[in-house]
Amino acid sequence: MKIITTPAEMQAAAQTLRREGKTIGFVPTMGFLHEGHLSLMRLARGRCDVLVASIFVNPTQFGPNEDLDAYPRDFDSDEALCRETGVDLLFYPTPETMYLEGHSIWVDEDSLSGMLCGAARPGHFRGVCTVVTKLLNIVLPDFMVLGEKDAQQLRVLRRMVRDLNIPVDIVSGPTVREADGLAMSSRNKHLSPEERAEAVCLFQGLEKAKSLFAAGERDAAVLKAAVREVIEKTSGTVDYIEIVDDESLQNFQPLETRHAGDVKPSLIALAVKFSGARLIDNAVLSK
Ligand code: PAF
Repeated sequence: MKIITTPAEMQAAAQTLRREGKTIGFVPTMGFLHEGHLSLMRLARGRCDVLVASIFVNPTQFGPNEDLDAYPRDFDSDEALCRETGVDLLFYPTPETMYLEGHSIWVDEDSLSGMLCGAARPGHFRGVCTVVTKLLNIVLPDFMVLGEKDAQQLRVLRRMVRDLNIPVDIVSGPTVREADGLAMSSRNKHLSPEERAEAVCLFQGLEKAKSLFAAGERDAAVLKAAVREVIEKTSGTVDYIEIVDDESLQNFQPLETRHAGDVKPSLIALAVKFSGARLIDNAVLSK
């Protein structure tokens, strides 16, 4: 595995590979890798000639009061995990080389970014869209693999590559969970032992909503109240619980109507704040 630290060198390597007709698969990450990231890398590994992973804690997707400095980092462990998982090129740039002095161009998604996490984290998706556009221009992948845990990010980035005609396929990988159901996340590290035990409430709440939905419940308020009840038994505070159209992320139609003729699936998504970390999770509701 080769480690590349500058955009220019990474782009030159990618251009050579493309000229040689090699298929490039790409997994962008912010590091502190866990089984969730590794599952995406394995998924990509099976479909490409050259696997590129990036580790870059992107400052522009963190708000002024967010955890940029506290975001966990462990490059030695990440490097070893990438090697074991079959990464060929590890792109590990610095903020200074990614954002040159006077950087002034941004990619802003205008429709899907305003709700759910976007409502609580203004500017977050502008930072994500901008850095992912840059990474795609640097790594020149045939496809990029993203995790389904970040449901809104996945949908925003699908929309971005569609609307900007970026020639890359997006492949998604399922959420990987701990034995009790907690979705794996780099932020779980910040939970106290008590909070870690309670954090399974996101999964439990979603499971409860899914089983009510499977039993025919179509009142979004009832489903959301069922999730809230599970969360409120813990020290976590609900940031949001929403049920929205799986593609548009809007909730313009009552669930009953949306699911009457087996139309489009809905997404149930939630964010819960613990003192150590804000956690997100989601599930797709479909007939
Ligand atoms: O999901 C993440 O880790 C980040 O948002 C991403 C896609 C690597 C962009 O910084």
